[in-house]
Order: sequence, then structure tokens, then C-alpha cells
Amino acid sequence: MKNSQYNLLQLQNKVCIITGVASRRSIGYATAELFAAHGAKTVIVDLVMNEQTANDLAESIAVQIGKKFEMIGLQCDVRSASDCEMVIQKAVTHFGTIDCLVNCAGIVKSEGMLSITEQDYDLIMDVNLKGTFNICKSVLKVFVEKQAGVIVNLASLAGQRGGGLVGGSHYAASKGGVISLTRSIAREFAPMNIRANVICPAMIETPMLDGLSEEQLENVITGIPLKRIGKTSELAGACLFLASELSGFVTGATIDVNGGIHIH
Ligand SMILES: NC(=O)c1ccc[n+]([C@@H]2O[C@H](COP(=O)([O-])OP(=O)(O)OC[C@H]3O[C@@H](n4cnc5c(N)ncnc54)[C@H](O)[C@@H]3O)[C@@H](O)[C@H]2O)c1
Repeated sequence: MKNSQYNLLQLQNKVCIITGVASRRSIGYATAELFAAHGAKTVIVDLVMNEQTANDLAESIAVQIGKKFEMIGLQCDVRSASDCEMVIQKAVTHFGTIDCLVNCAGIVKSEGMLSITEQDYDLIMDVNLKGTFNICKSVLKVFVEKQAGVIVNLASLAGQRGGGLVGGSHYAASKGGVISLTRSIAREFAPMNIRANVICPAMIETPMLDGLSEEQLENVITGIPLKRIGKTSELAGACLFLASELSGFVTGATIDVNGGIHIH
């Protein structure tokens, strides 16, 4: 049998759910585009997804990859366990199974510890940590039944080094939780042939960096060994590696995509 590592299409006919995809400038969108190029059938999910957005994104992907692909768009608030259940059910109904989940949905807020209100704290925690927990839990039921599946979660440099370049302590805490959650899933479900890994990005050019002034951005770039900010396509590349058989023996890992700003 041909070695699957030599496949040009690393996700041929794999059903992949990707959350946090509504903006064309997002990591989620770049991941959906790369996965579609590699033959995946994708379910794109976002709080602000609707038919028009899904159609626009599909059109944009089609232009970029220059071939036909299968995709559905679903609106979902990952804070809601029932919304997450609905996404998994609809994906299974439409495509028959699910092979992979990539969680890019997330929010950030930059503020000092003493300015963080209870509402701010709850919102950041609910979207970033509880949201990741909710959708992982829903998809794991499918993965356990088929004794296979892959999860890729997006955390942040902020969760590793104690506070972000962008984002307050609540954001850092939520992302630290995502790292820990992913490792726990990896350990508990590895015997069922289910892998889970987490990516810690820093300074990727998306709407999340829109709040930074030119000067703040220049200051941060000065401290990045690669001397630039990252592209969403570079983050998508890490997702492709973790979602595909290229990383078949990798689970519980934390992958840095940060231009070398945190080497440890
Ligand atoms: N861009 C960076 O430099 C960077 C750095 C570290 C970590 N990250 C993480 O990477 C992930 C993707 O970030 P991005 O930069 O592409 O951000 P983005 O803001 O471009 O995309 C995030 C998406 O999540 C969606 N979303 C927000 N709340 C939601 C909810 N409750 N339910 C469903 N969807 C919701 C938004 O609508 C948006 O489309 C996030 O988890 C982020 O924390 C990004």
C-alpha cells in the first residue's frame, strides 16, 4: 500500500469542522481554505455565520484553490453546549461522519488585571475555554464511537508565558486552560485512537491585532526573532500538519507558531 505521507492531498475526503471562520482575514478562514485545497469536506462554524457569509467564503475559497470542494456553513455560539451539539449532529447528518475538529473561535481583550470586570472575565472564559470544552465534548462522542478522530485547539503564547502581547490576564488564563484541557483530552482519549494537540500562536496578522497602533506593532516586531508578524497561511500549515496523518504519532503536543518570540 502507498505510504500516506506521500499523498499530495493530505485530507482527501476527510470531514473537518473548523470554528471561528467568518472573517476572511482569520486563522480559521485560512485553515478552511488550505484544508479544502487538500481535499477536505469542511464544516465552517462561527457566531456570525449565515447563508450569505457561507456563500461568500465558499466563493472566495473556490477562486483561491481553483477546484470544486464540499462545504457547509453553520451558525453557532460555542458558549452554548446545545449549539455545539447541533453543529456536530448537522455535520454527521450532512457528511456521514467527522474526522477532525479545529477550534479557532476566540475573543481577546486587552486590559489590566484591576480593570477586568466580572462580566469581562466571564465572557472571555466562556468563549475561549468553555466554548472549546463544549465543542470538544460534543465531537468526542462521535470520535469515541468510531475510535478515531483528531482535535486541534488554538491557545496562545499568552497562556504559556503569563500574559500576552495582546490580551489581559483573563485571556491568558483562558488560553492556559485550553492548553491544559487539550493535554487532558490527549491523555484520556489516546487509547481510543483519538489525538489532540494545541497550537500557541503569537502575532498573526488577523483582526485580533487591529487594536494595536503602528508604534505598538513596531515595538513588538523588534522583539520577534524572525522580525515580522505571522501570516494566517502559516498558522493554517500547522493545523494541516496536526490534522493529517503527517502527525500520526503526535498527541498532547503544544506547537509554537510565534516567529521565535518564545523559545523554551
Ligand atoms: N491572531 C493572533 O495573533 C493570535 C494570537 C494568539 C492566539 N490566537 C488565537 O487564534 C484563534 C483565532 O484567532 P484569529 O486571530 O483568527 O481571530 P479572529 O477574531 O479573526 O477570529 C475569531 C473568530 O471567532 C468567532 N467567534 C467569537 N466568539 C464566538 C463564539 N462565541 N462562538 C463562535 N464563534 C465565535 C468570531 O466571530 C471570529 O470570526 C483565537 O482563539 C485566538 O485567541 C490568535
